[in-house]
Amino acid sequence: MNISQLIEEAIQARKHAYTPYSHFQVGAALLAASGKIYRGCNIENAGYTPSNCAERTAFFKAVSEGERVFEAIAVVAGPEGGELEETAPCGVCRQVMMEFCDYETFQIIMAVSPKDYQILTLKELLPMGFGPANLNCAK
Ligand code: THU
Repeated sequence: MNISQLIEEAIQARKHAYTPYSHFQVGAALLAASGKIYRGCNIENAGYTPSNCAERTAFFKAVSEGERVFEAIAVVAGPEGGELEETAPCGVCRQVMMEFCDYETFQIIMAVSPKDYQILTLKELLPMGFGPANLNCAK
């Protein structure tokens, strides 16, 4: 996996963030086992609750294209016009990762630049997660 390239793609994705309410812009780049990278940005809404995080945008794009196995996601975030800040995915996005990713090995790359980042596994970010296995779902 080329981590710097994945972060660069997340930085590009963030340019499309639609954030007229929070002005907090997030970009994500999701690496599928196929080798393809799916970009996502946050997309807000005047109704607030229909807003979608960058990470889920990337996951839903990928799953809707037939991907089911993922290796890593890079996330970059920060206020519009400001510096990037290390930002961890929200709880809802972690739960979506739980659905599709290997608990022990999926890597979440939280970056402030292509060379400055922290990596945690899904298990580290979502201890005692509830997932498909709890419902005896083999997928
Ligand atoms: N947001 C994301 O897109 N990903 C995260 O990991 C944290 C939060 C978005 C949601 C909303 O559009 C804005 O950031 C402020 O919460």
